[in-house]
Amino acid sequence: QVMRDVSGISSLEAQVSERLGIDQVIIVNGDSDEDPLIKRELGYATAVWLRQEIRSGDTIAVTGGTTIAMLAEMMPSLAHGMDVQVVPARGGLGENVEYQANTIASRLAAKLGGTNKMLHVPDFVSEDVYQSLLAEPHVRERLAMIQSARIVIHGIGEALKMARRRQLPEETIRLLDSGHAIAEAFGYYFDQTGQIVHVMNTVGLRLGDLKKIERIVGVAGGRSKAHAIVAVAKGCRQDVLVTDEGAARAIIQL
Ligand code: G3H
Repeated sequence: QVMRDVSGISSLEAQVSERLGIDQVIIVNGDSDEDPLIKRELGYATAVWLRQEIRSGDTIAVTGGTTIAMLAEMMPSLAHGMDVQVVPARGGLGENVEYQANTIASRLAAKLGGTNKMLHVPDFVSEDVYQSLLAEPHVRERLAMIQSARIVIHGIGEALKMARRRQLPEETIRLLDSGHAIAEAFGYYFDQTGQIVHVMNTVGLRLGDLKKIERIVGVAGGRSKAHAIVAVAKGCRQDVLVTDEGAARAIIQL
């Protein structure tokens, strides 16, 4: 605590909390744009938060991405398994397997000694296929489980960077560009006022479902994500933000 105060982190946390209207802000030193090790620190800080918060019977939903992957990586294996369930927040968004929500959910569940339920839905489906998937009893049952999560932990990305990484069609990229999308979370793309520009057609949590979730935790760092973090904070309720100094200092200057 003393170390953190000396570096002025507590006051930075308070400033970001006030600026974004997020109750709890946790900031790690450094900037993950400059040093990839800082992303591990974000994962570790989130793991520490989760270990304090988690209780028996919990369902935790996680998204994909390189940052949330670090949560699973940095979470120590618990000696006594917990009665918790880890599920992906949403189905396929076009990520490499390593960074898919399913993969991260299963790794995190293994660390916690809990159980994991996968959501096997293909990436990039048409509206017809999407509707048929929703009608499948197995998918409905998984969806209900995901919607019953008490905690959801998600990444935040820059819109166009995410769209390219997920190899979205050029047409969608143009749509994001003309709609001034700057942020992405949960497969939703937002503009700087927090308005939704585009939503990926996949099964899982919809923004409206977040109302029922007790703790919504965003994890994102690096100065380059400052605008995206602000936009997501406007677009959907955030209870906790885990970020780094690079992003935090940029946010309070915007
Ligand atoms: O869902 C992915 C996030 O929006 C950002 O991903 O953590 O790899 O930057 P990232």
